[in-house]
Amino acid sequence: MSQALDEIKIGGLGASRKRVEDSRFIRGTGNYTDDITLPGMLHMEILRSPLAHARIKSIDASRAWQIPGVHLVLTGEMMATRNLAWMPTLSYDTQAVLATDKVRFQGQEVACVIADDPYIAKDACELIDIEYEPLPVIVNPEQAVADGAPVIRDDKENQLDNVIYDWAVGDAEGTGRAFAQADKISKLRLHYPRSHPSPIECCGSIADYNRSTSKLTVYMTTQAPHIIRAAVALVAELPEHMIRIISPDIGGGFGNKVPVYPGYVCSILASILLERPVKWIEDKSGNLISTGFARDVYLDGEMALRSDGKILAVRMHTDADHGAFFSDAQPSKFKIGLMHSAFAAYDVPVAHLTARGTYSNKAPGGVAYRCSFRVTEAMFFQERMMQAAADDLGMDQAEFRRMNFVPDEAFPHRTPFGFLTDSGQYARCLDVGLKAVGYQDFRRQQEEARGRGRLLGLGISTMTEPLGAGNSREYDILGIKMFDSAELKVHMTGKAIVRTGARGQGQGHETTWAQIVSHELGIPAEDVVVEEGDTDTAPFGMGTYASRSTPVAGAAVAMVSRKIRAKARRLAAHLLEVSEEDVEWELGRFYIRSAPDRGVTIQECAMAAYSNMPDGMEPGLENTAYYDPPNLTWPFAVYIVTVEVDPQTGVWDVLNMVAVDDCGIRINPMIVEGQIMGGLTEAYAVANMQFITFDAEGNCVGSNYMDYLLPTAWETPGFELHSEVVTPCPHHPIGAKGIGECAAVGGPAAFVNAVLDALKGTGVRNIDMPLLPDRVWEAITYRRDISGAPPVRADD
Ligand code: CDP
Repeated sequence: MSQALDEIKIGGLGASRKRVEDSRFIRGTGNYTDDITLPGMLHMEILRSPLAHARIKSIDASRAWQIPGVHLVLTGEMMATRNLAWMPTLSYDTQAVLATDKVRFQGQEVACVIADDPYIAKDACELIDIEYEPLPVIVNPEQAVADGAPVIRDDKENQLDNVIYDWAVGDAEGTGRAFAQADKISKLRLHYPRSHPSPIECCGSIADYNRSTSKLTVYMTTQAPHIIRAAVALVAELPEHMIRIISPDIGGGFGNKVPVYPGYVCSILASILLERPVKWIEDKSGNLISTGFARDVYLDGEMALRSDGKILAVRMHTDADHGAFFSDAQPSKFKIGLMHSAFAAYDVPVAHLTARGTYSNKAPGGVAYRCSFRVTEAMFFQERMMQAAADDLGMDQAEFRRMNFVPDEAFPHRTPFGFLTDSGQYARCLDVGLKAVGYQDFRRQQEEARGRGRLLGLGISTMTEPLGAGNSREYDILGIKMFDSAELKVHMTGKAIVRTGARGQGQGHETTWAQIVSHELGIPAEDVVVEEGDTDTAPFGMGTYASRSTPVAGAAVAMVSRKIRAKARRLAAHLLEVSEEDVEWELGRFYIRSAPDRGVTIQECAMAAYSNMPDGMEPGLENTAYYDPPNLTWPFAVYIVTVEVDPQTGVWDVLNMVAVDDCGIRINPMIVEGQIMGGLTEAYAVANMQFITFDAEGNCVGSNYMDYLLPTAWETPGFELHSEVVTPCPHHPIGAKGIGECAAVGGPAAFVNAVLDALKGTGVRNIDMPLLPDRVWEAITYRRDISGAPPVRADD
């Protein structure tokens, strides 16, 4: 007679439990970095360079020092005396904290003022006199490698040009042979433009150095507090156990809050020098022009095709513009992140990818904006190439994809670039999407509309992406292996606290981690509190980005719960006076196999752990698990968009958007849907309206919210979400795959493919994002491709 609890009722796996964190967020009682005020706190402002490339001839801060209320002016020269003018980046490069010799991008940090309040600090910044000698500017990879190009990183001893790396993966010879046998070769050149995560909350920190305890506490907007602690220990040469990083509530991160920024370092040094807390809160323009750009990658892609539609080989060359410092946060082994995850969903026999990274006079880029290290660019290129290839062959878009999918029975599948995908039902997901969008009907309508001069289009994007770095064998950041952790303490009354090394920024970890504990132990989710973000209390972890939390930290929560259950079983046997082998488990309760109505609840076991444990047993019911995943998780998605393009204005409207996401077991279906809707909204914004680029002088154009548009509910189209296909991850303890970034990764290609499908037959093969009306209009009117690569044209 089972007395197992109803898992959905207690808020376990599959329950669409309301997000517990929202209660404080929607009441305005969240606790963000800028909400924190410490006694005696000072405020820091940063002076940024107006020029993109210039030698610094002199800095005179004497007028700033004279302003009443100014406590400190920091310049590169002063930082240099403490060996802090430069800091290491997460990609083994160096980055200027405050410029000493040259400025290398517009918005670069040149000096800081620390004052009684932020207004005094800002006014004083304006009184710092700097004499610059302008230098020639580079804003794209072509200029970076041109003969006679100025060397941007002349601070580096052996850097004689602007190339950061040349990297290759795959089989060059085999790919060459396959191309020689192709019936058709389809080519495409694309640019994935710079974009910006633009979280609502900008970056910031409050450094609080206490001389009497020698302890440095830093409240900061970081998605990876433990990595920051290690970085501060190494850069500032402080003992790690005397550093406490606290990441309070975060108002969105999206990768923007992974790297170490100069503002953090300056506020820490200022606090050490002044022995007072120092707060730095970045303003919106500072965030937009200098902090955490993403993308800016070019593709030259080629596909070798058989006339019946079989892909024989793929060749990709990518040029990545990293800006002035190579500061990407990514696994050290892969120079261009996981770009080589492209074509993982397709049965491509052989492929070769070459990648070149270059410096330019732009702010550092490479932030994995809602993305697993360049996967967004990879999937965009893949799906744009798929559309072009199908068109070149005269084949149906859906059929071309279907015939090249990795079939269900082929898993595990080794991708042409060496990843191992392990599960999926790709064709089934596509069928669900095509049915939902009414594919055949739409194609008929499209034909009819074309006859009447109306341009309708349908775009498909199908992809599997690698989420959940590591395993630690292959994935590390600065040599620190990528794994994660969870600590679970069950108190004597059966209430529990779980802490992980991840750090959510709005994804709902406080809700979903409790659900995993609930699923594993039968403790109601409301009895489990989740804490993240304090390095003094949370176990070590690599943080939250790249949708790795569920695959790694979430798995650690399941594993630590199982350790607790194992001990609880011994306690249960003791309480029931039987041997452990005679004890069975059902959700929330152990019972005697031969007498199922005699049992004890998990709460009774918890009480016994503190009050009635067997002789020789260590008291208490708590444990920690470190989880090193055996593989990445591979969710699969189908995004299909239909649009109408107005040929008179170039404006395009979304008619319908269907999303089919298979992310394995969904812990909280409502949260998953929220993640998908958010991702699709960002995808739509990038494809449609987010314009930020550079002119020939390196001025950041579009660095304001009049040009870089954030879609509101008004502009955002409706999305139809489908969850009927579920392929559990074979190696994740609860079968979950990551989901946070999927829609932002796979979505952009669906929108762009739809607009280009509407223009099919006009000779237009590509329009670079964002597909602004004037670009679409120009393409239609002049029947030509439109490049969005910087420098921006004078008339833009
Ligand atoms: O690393 P990040 O939290 O950004 O991404 P994620 O691991 O994909 O999770 C995003 C949110 O969706 C978290 O609250 C997860 O617990 C939840 N999720 C879920 O409920 N079921 C899944 N299969 C995957 C994620």
